[in-house]
Order: sequence, then C-alpha cells, then structure tokens
Amino acid sequence: MLSEKIAKNLGRSSWIRAMFEEGEKLRKIHGADKVYDFSLGNPEVEPPAAVKGKLKDIVLSGEQGIHRYMSNAGYYSVREKVAEYFQKEKGVQMKPENIVMTCGAAGGLNVVFKTIINPGEEVIVFSPYFAEYLFYIDNHGGKPVIVPVDKDTFQPDLELFERHLNPLTKAVLINSPNNPTGVVYNESILARMAEIIGKKEKEYGTQICVVADEPYDKIIYDDVKLPSIPAIFKNSITINSFSKSLALPGERIGYIAVGSDIEDAGLLVDGLVFSNRTLGFVNAPALFQKVVAGSLEEKVDIGYYRKRRDILYNHLVKLGFSCVKPQGAFYLFPKALIDDDVEFARRALKYNLLIVPGSGFGWPGHFRLSYCVSIEMIGNSLPAFEALAKEF
Ligand SMILES: Cc1ncc(COP(=O)(O)O)c(C=O)c1O
Repeated sequence: MLSEKIAKNLGRSSWIRAMFEEGEKLRKIHGADKVYDFSLGNPEVEPPAAVKGKLKDIVLSGEQGIHRYMSNAGYYSVREKVAEYFQKEKGVQMKPENIVMTCGAAGGLNVVFKTIINPGEEVIVFSPYFAEYLFYIDNHGGKPVIVPVDKDTFQPDLELFERHLNPLTKAVLINSPNNPTGVVYNESILARMAEIIGKKEKEYGTQICVVADEPYDKIIYDDVKLPSIPAIFKNSITINSFSKSLALPGERIGYIAVGSDIEDAGLLVDGLVFSNRTLGFVNAPALFQKVVAGSLEEKVDIGYYRKRRDILYNHLVKLGFSCVKPQGAFYLFPKALIDDDVEFARRALKYNLLIVPGSGFGWPGHFRLSYCVSIEMIGNSLPAFEALAKEF
C-alpha cells in the first residue's frame, strides 16, 4: 500500500526520532531520572504566564463565533497586529495583506515551497541543516542543493555559495539562529550574499527568493543582534513560529511575511493562501491566532536557556570537546571525539546519554545536544559526559 517514495524516505528515518525511541527503551530499564535525553527540541519550559492568561481570557470571554472558519490567510485583526510588530522588529514596511497565518514554521515552509517551486527547481540549503527541510522541498517537486558552511565558524561560505547558484535556483533557505549549530549568521556575510544573488539574477534573468526560517529569532544571547533579512534581501519571505519563542510547539501556530519589495507580492500572497487551503491546513488554529496576536512582545525567559548553554558549553570545553559557542537557539553542536559520529552516539548510550549524530543534519563528525531540558537533568548528566570523554 505504501508509496515507493514514502517507503524510501521512511528508510532514511530521522536520527532524532531514532534516539528518542532508544531513550524510551533506556527509561524503561533505568528509570526516567537516570536517562539524559538531549535528542529533541521540545521545550521543557512552560509558556509565559501572560500567554496562558490571554488564552484563559479568550476562552472565558463568552464571545461567539471564535471557533469558526475564517479567511484562509487568518483573522485580519491578527494579521494587522503581526504586520505592525514585524515592521517594528525588522525595520521594514509590512502590510497586514502580506501576512499569512500558518500551522507553525513547518506548515509555513510547506506552503511557501508549494507556492513557488516548479518541478526540478533548486533550493539552496546550508549544511548542517534541520533535516526536515529536505523532505519539505521534495514534497513539492523541488531539489535541495546542499552548500556546506565554513567548518570553523559555521557561517556561510560565500565562494561555495556562488558556485552553487544557476538558472534553476529558485530559493535560498536561511535558518538563523541556526538549528543545529546555534550560530547567528553575520550581517556583513548576508549583505555580500545579497550582492551575489543580485548579480546572478541579472546574469540569468531569473528571480531568486530568500526564504528565512526564523523560529529561534527571540532566543538570542549576549546582546547579539539578529540581522534583518527583509532589510538585506530584495526578494524575501520570512517564516516564523511561536513553537520556541513562546514554548507552544503543540499548538501549531506561526506566520509567513512576504517582503513588500517582491514584484507581484499580492499575487504571491494569493498563491500562499491557496496553498494553505489546499494542502489541507485550511487556516491556522483560530484560538491561538488570537492568543499570539495578544502576546507578540512576550518571550520565554532567555536567562533560562543561557544558564543551560553556559553549564553544558563550559563543561564540554573543559573535557576537551571543541565547540562553537552558540549565540542563539537551544542547541550545541560539538565535534565528536572520533570521526564516526554514529558510533560516538552509540558509545554515549552506554552512559544513558542521548545525543544526535551530526550525520542527521548533513554534517558527520559532530553531534547535537538540545538543551531545552531541566537543569537537574543537565547537572546529573555532567559525570556521564566526563565518563564518555575518558573513553577516547
Ligand atoms: C529550524 C527549524 N525550522 C522549523 C521547525 C518547525 O517548527 P514548528 O514547530 O514551528 O513547525 C523547527 C522545529 O524544531 C526547526 O528547528
């Protein structure tokens, strides 16, 4: 019954899921408190109290009709608030008409790729990458073209980038703060990338769209400033979500913002709205559209994540791991102590440590730790990392 394509993709099953399954087994044997699970990006922290308050107010308001269908783009009043917030944050013009509310960033990415990709067109993806990107692009007949970032800084390598552009390039996907490295892409590198894109568009007579996937935009440390993609790139579509910034991943709420410089932006939005409907999302969840519209200035406590980053990063560096210090998101991406990252993750299991091999992100030789977990678990895991490091 299964299609050949899904059967093939299932075969390449996600390392993150595989580790999660391993964790389930270990938890049954040793008990949950003895297993140190750094595999999933599922925030342990609760949403801010103001967000829960907003939800309660809406549900108890007695207002009629709040559970009905609305325009496939979302409530206009919500899009107005999102546009106003986006304009202020990004320093660019944004109209409510250019906002489409979505089922998280995953929904947004699928809507965008369905709307813009012709069969066989290419999407540049910088590696290491969020593994689902490859499936989202493939879902809509596109071809992911992997461009490795600089191996020391994890910033885009512009020479390599330029070499991968060609007349079939439809989009460049940028994820900053990045999953899995935690790196924030540098403003001057992005500005030079925009020049390269402009030059190539002229040469090929094509339009190349920059798709910014920014679910971690509010989780930034040490006064680092996130460059504004819509201010740097002419043809940009920004995708955002409240899964991480408000710790609401199960509620499936996010949005797409279409850059106002895009030619025929109105037609593009019509296409996005059509895709949102016909992919079967229909519209973003009604209740949570209203909740996030009233919580745009809110975010989870960044100090909470910074504390976890610092404890783990300092410990790993002390143990001899080499690791780029993350400036955002809630992941560490250290180098494994042997070349074979899959074997390294297997050896970590001996100490009940669940880590994800870099191969799962297109970057063998490293591993990812997701530190959106309890501080107790991090504290208890430190001797396990020490024992693991001693093996090599
Ligand atoms: C880089 C990146 N993009 C998109 C997503 C999907 O997020 P959402 O829950 O908003 O669909 C994730 C989730 O972990 C992610 O890490």
